[in-house]
Amino acid sequence: MSVYKTIFKRRSIRRYRQKPIKLAVLKRIVDAARVAPSAGNFQPMEYILLHKRKIVNQIFEHLRWAVYLKGKGTPAKDQRPTALIIILINKKWAKFPFYTQVDMGAAIENMLLAATEEGLGSCWFGSIDRPKISKDLSVPQTHSVEYVVSLGVPDEKSVIFPMKRTQKYHKDKFGVLHVPKRPLYKILHLNKY
Ligand SMILES: Cc1cc2nc3c(=O)[nH]c(=O)nc-3n(C[C@H](O)[C@H](O)[C@H](O)COP(=O)(O)O)c2cc1C
Repeated sequence: MSVYKTIFKRRSIRRYRQKPIKLAVLKRIVDAARVAPSAGNFQPMEYILLHKRKIVNQIFEHLRWAVYLKGKGTPAKDQRPTALIIILINKKWAKFPFYTQVDMGAAIENMLLAATEEGLGSCWFGSIDRPKISKDLSVPQTHSVEYVVSLGVPDEKSVIFPMKRTQKYHKDKFGVLHVPKRPLYKILHLNKY
């Protein structure tokens, strides 16, 4: 797939088929994060890869799903992610908080695109119970839990459309997710504002 095709194909997918993902594929996805750009090249991120059902289901309880779908966004038991990636910051290398956030954005987007390329659905989670995740996964004080990425073989469809009044995504009667995106002409300024 071309990079553009992958970028436009990627959507947040929150429902998955219960087909395990090969460990080699999951490792490739994390490896894509490893080589992302990093301010000052400090590379403060580390990752915990969860691919065993028991621990995936335990951490699943600490994620908030699709806030705009008001309770209907959380996947049923047979549509939960089959793997999770926990994004950690090694505080020793987090020299500048602003850049640390930006570094994570670049690394996480690399993983989402790599997952798309692998035929997987993914979703990035910021609304998570960080203290509970840290405790359940024995994360040391030297590191902080920042974000979670869910992964699995997609079991829902999501499409984008030009945003009009609201940024809120919605589901239609067929269960297809519709995600508004600001049109290019509204955000691109040529040569001056
Ligand atoms: C920093 C960040 C945090 C997010 N946190 C959550 C979250 O906690 N729960 C969730 O269901 N989706 C979360 N998302 C996914 C967004 O809802 C999603 O990216 C947005 O609706 C646009 O859809 P798209 O990813 O298909 O383009 C997050 C995305 C980002 C970038």
